[in-house]
Amino acid sequence: MSILLTGITTSGTPHLGNYIGAMKPALEFIQDSKESFLFLADYHSLIKQQDPSLTHDSSLKIASAWLACGLDPNKTCFYRQSKIPQILELNWVLSNVTSKGLLNRAHAYKAAQDINKSNNDNDLDKGISAGLFNYPILMAADILIFNSNKVPVGSDQKQHLEMTRDIAARFNHIYGETFTLPEAMISDDLPLLLGTDGKKMSKSYKNFIELFSTEKQLQKSINKIQTDSLEPGEIKSTKDSILFNYFQAFLDSTELKLIEKKYVEGAGWGDLKKLLFDLVNKEISLSRDRYFNFIADPTKVEEILQEGEKRALKIAEEKMIEIREKIGIKSLNGK
Ligand code: TRP
Repeated sequence: MSILLTGITTSGTPHLGNYIGAMKPALEFIQDSKESFLFLADYHSLIKQQDPSLTHDSSLKIASAWLACGLDPNKTCFYRQSKIPQILELNWVLSNVTSKGLLNRAHAYKAAQDINKSNNDNDLDKGISAGLFNYPILMAADILIFNSNKVPVGSDQKQHLEMTRDIAARFNHIYGETFTLPEAMISDDLPLLLGTDGKKMSKSYKNFIELFSTEKQLQKSINKIQTDSLEPGEIKSTKDSILFNYFQAFLDSTELKLIEKKYVEGAGWGDLKKLLFDLVNKEISLSRDRYFNFIADPTKVEEILQEGEKRALKIAEEKMIEIREKIGIKSLNGK
């Protein structure tokens, strides 16, 4: 039976790239799963940024966005990582079966070291927090505490899933069969949605398109997508067209053929952008209304999360009882 689980770091505002690359596929996977868990990785967010108001605002925005896009909290257990202390308890237990060498090999840690290397810094660990270094263990705890076996993530998270399996296997080897080894679910066939400048869409590059803004803002952001300077009437190439990358993300192959035809016929960039706007707007407009309703009613979102947290706490504590028992943390009289 598949037990699906995924987490979203609360360090920003949902953008179109998150919608195409994470939300849409995860919501589809959830449809086909028997049991599912979706959570706000709010303690993970401290690794990326330490702005309390950003962490707080982002939690409401991300929760509202998922609910608006169709997450059914009656079907999926929806909660905040910070409300399930057993995750942090397991984090400590797992850190003792995780070799430091495994963490040394993590891409995120190595990338941070590479920056120091390229700056010719003698201290390779300069500015790198223990939180960043230990990140994979917290992620393993998130996953293993709920016995989840299917984890939809972006391809950048593949290594974290491999580490989770290593850590789980090590624990099982020492203390006996306790954890299921989870698998990553990666939608390789999804075209990555690029930023308006053609680089990876990211908050830090300021090239992102907010998922939910006003129609006018959406139109404005779409107008920012970079194109070449060919005039209307001139034949355009879909290859290397950032705008075409957006069409690919929102259309199926038959519909895409029609857009390709427009490129060949020399449609103007302005008209093509208008077409893209209509397309995106149509797809998200219902969710947008729901999103702003949730944002205006944080009490409602809080209640939904608290409901999920009650269920999540029960499962997590049951698992932790089993784990504490296995590692020898139990009452002295055996009761
Ligand atoms: N690390 C994930 C990301 O940055 C977020 C995350 C935290 C997560 N814990 C998780 C994803 C557990 C899946 C399962 O995208």
